[in-house]
Amino acid sequence: MVLSTNAPVVMSANGLYKRFGGQVILNNAAFEMRRSEVVLLRGANGAGKTTLLNILTGNLEPDAGTLSLFTAAKEEHFQFPRSWARKLNFLDHFTPERIARRGVSRSWQDIRLFPTHTLRDNVALAIQNQTGESPFAVFYRRRRIREEEAQIAKEADALLVRFGLGGRETSSADMVSLGQSKRVAIARSVLAGAKIMFLDEPLSALDSKGINEVMALLASVVAEHGVTLVIVEHVFNIPRVLDQATTVWTITNGQIKVETPEQVRRQGLPTESDGVRPWLRHLAGTNGRVVERELPGGALLSYAQLPNGSGRAALNVKDLVVRRGRRPVIGRPIGDGREVEGLSFALPDCSIGVLQAPNGWGKTTFLEALSGVIPVDRGTISINGKPIQDLATWDRIANGLGIMQSRDNVFPNLLVDEAIKLAGVAEVPDHIRPFLGRRVAALSGGERQNVAAACALFARTNAVNLLDEPFGMLDAKAIARLQGEILARNGGATLMLLPAASN
Ligand SMILES: Nc1ncnc2c1ncn2[C@@H]1O[C@H](COP(=O)(O)OP(=O)(O)OP(=O)(O)O)[C@@H](O)[C@H]1O
Ligand SMILES: [Mg+2]
Repeated sequence: MVLSTNAPVVMSANGLYKRFGGQVILNNAAFEMRRSEVVLLRGANGAGKTTLLNILTGNLEPDAGTLSLFTAAKEEHFQFPRSWARKLNFLDHFTPERIARRGVSRSWQDIRLFPTHTLRDNVALAIQNQTGESPFAVFYRRRRIREEEAQIAKEADALLVRFGLGGRETSSADMVSLGQSKRVAIARSVLAGAKIMFLDEPLSALDSKGINEVMALLASVVAEHGVTLVIVEHVFNIPRVLDQATTVWTITNGQIKVETPEQVRRQGLPTESDGVRPWLRHLAGTNGRVVERELPGGALLSYAQLPNGSGRAALNVKDLVVRRGRRPVIGRPIGDGREVEGLSFALPDCSIGVLQAPNGWGKTTFLEALSGVIPVDRGTISINGKPIQDLATWDRIANGLGIMQSRDNVFPNLLVDEAIKLAGVAEVPDHIRPFLGRRVAALSGGERQNVAAACALFARTNAVNLLDEPFGMLDAKAIARLQGEILARNGGATLMLLPAASN
């Protein structure tokens, strides 16, 4: 897409400087952002993308620099460090609320909908200063509140219809797919009057259908509302964002390099052949083969058998049924719906495989059932021939099960040293050493994922390693390294769980 250069500037910054301890993250960073601009923000893990977003949304103060906002009738100019006079003036603080009221919204990687509320309520609560918020009005202005709420509900419904969620207005937010809930979060920002939206990895964990839905929605938000978007994405999702981007910002050495999408394309982008399944074909080599099996519900299991394998099943799942409430999530109703067909598949030892499943298939439920967090309804799960479905989690681990969760995979309050020790890793891998002595919570998303992978892969050789979206949040260098580690550690079977038709 091409941006008209005379579109008005909505936000600008100059001389932004930020350091954490001795580490300089932003060093004289500057930019100008215009109405309807779509910015792809990229950079290596730890480059400072999230730090920049935190600053531009009022969640973090830079050590020096200026920030100007032109989204509201009254311009706002912030100078850092804040002068002592401004610090004393409680009406003039640099806070997320103040920035948000100027039409700047932000999405987090986890979506943060209210799970037990309807989609309508989740969108409607974005409206600020509703009369019903006042405790006095609740008693004296009931009619006004009722009318106002009806009006807001109508607006929320209209937005949901426009965003392809018509008919789902009263669905509870925990009953819709991930792609749908991401769209609800965007609808909420639009209704709140967002003029600039910062989106931290909005496409992560989505299957290809969800990615199309979210990108189409974002395009319409720009076209119809003139919203400016800043989208952070990594490796495989970059080509998708680039299709709609007008500008690319790359953070390197603390500065923002501004380029056009064409310039970035010419430098070369990840292609299909950089994906996971081509990697499996590469591992299988010329003599080996990649086994592919379609599983019920649109999932695909592919694995490469490495040399030295005995051909015996390291992981054997037989007729597995797992329910959430009464509904079978793993296992499909057949015939008149009273019979349920369980999930069955096997993964041989010395193999590396990937299970790609659409959102809503039950990847999380499957992992939780395997790890023993929720009970199975029927069927067996065996590791090297030993059934484990009735064992406690720690006994499953003792029997050779290793699991790396996609999120919240390391305790945030531990030091990296403590996390590594807790996982039983004897020798700290080199790329983790720079993080020793630091708290997990103070690491970037990708750095944290690297620590989690080290905890999962370097502790011991498991018979079966399950890795939930292991490449999410990682930059190209970290992906290549992790692939190498997976290969090097593989005595047993490794199964990666990914959204459908992603790479
Ligand atoms: N609260 C903090 N205290 C100390 N260091 C921090 C803190 N927050 C971030 N850092 C460090 O600042 C650097 C930039 O972090 P940031 O989260 O901005 O990176 P990022 O570009 O978003 O990376 P990723 O792609 O991994 O998400 C990292 O090296 C990180 O470890
Ligand atoms: Mg980040």
